Amino acid sequence: MSSTSEIGLATLAPANGRALPTVQGPATRRNALTAVDDATTVTVTPVVLGGARGGPSIPTLRRDRWWIPPVVTVTVLTAFVAYSTWAAFVNKDYYVGAAAHRNLISPFYSPCVAASCVPGSHPWAALSWWKISPALLILIVPLGFRLTCYYYRKAYYRGFWLAPAACGVADAHGAYTGETRLPLVLQNVHRYFFYLGLCLNVILTIDAVMSFDQPGVGIGISVGTVVLCVNAAFLWLYSLSCHACRHLCGGGVRQFSSSPVRHRLWKALTPLNARHMLFAWMSLCFVAAADLYVRLVASGTIHDYGFHF
Ligand code: FES
Repeated sequence: MSSTSEIGLATLAPANGRALPTVQGPATRRNALTAVDDATTVTVTPVVLGGARGGPSIPTLRRDRWWIPPVVTVTVLTAFVAYSTWAAFVNKDYYVGAAAHRNLISPFYSPCVAASCVPGSHPWAALSWWKISPALLILIVPLGFRLTCYYYRKAYYRGFWLAPAACGVADAHGAYTGETRLPLVLQNVHRYFFYLGLCLNVILTIDAVMSFDQPGVGIGISVGTVVLCVNAAFLWLYSLSCHACRHLCGGGVRQFSSSPVRHRLWKALTPLNARHMLFAWMSLCFVAAADLYVRLVASGTIHDYGFHF
């Protein structure tokens, strides 16, 4: 389409004074637009194409609050990154152990595989050469998983790069290469981070089960137990609703009738997949909340209330 081509923009004003959606089309078709029943006036504004990548030369014709989702995305992701970076580097108060009759470990530090981990925090603490915070070893997996997630990609491309900020809003960039070049072509490793994320989910589920053990007093339930269980549940929901997971179960099948097990799995996962955005935000916020809770208990700021059998 020529960047100087001209189109007609018809704004329909109904009798009740409320704005109707604007309708855009060739000027020669504007007579057809008067067919809307309650329209009383029709004004035509010429729009010259010439904006980003051939769109109108104004950023958007939208009048709703399209900017709210990108602002929320930037706010929440920035807060999460700031908190998790601090929590990963601080390297203390991530485990509540036998001295407090608890077995609670922060999800940011599990599995704690460095020899420098707090005694009792994990049986597989083996890497003696790792001298800095053990969280930095572990967070590569959830970070890579979320960074390459199809939903988060949409969210942060819109929120941070304005590419575009929303549907019907001009892209902030003049060129578009998609995810065909470095570094964005690396987003294709998402399925591998999905596999690693499943391993992490198993470990965090074991942590949640182990948190029922209250050393010195027996088996019990505390607020910390509930927090770790809910955290593990949200992480499973996030992983099982992943697009890569759904494709793994039902993708590439020519006939579902010949793959009944995969069909059943695909049908079970599809409703979860439809809520992937919800699970993405819930699991993100809750994993930070779980770390914060363990941190507050470990530092002695709050008491982990509970009971034992
Ligand atoms: Fe979001 Fe896979 S698409 S985790």
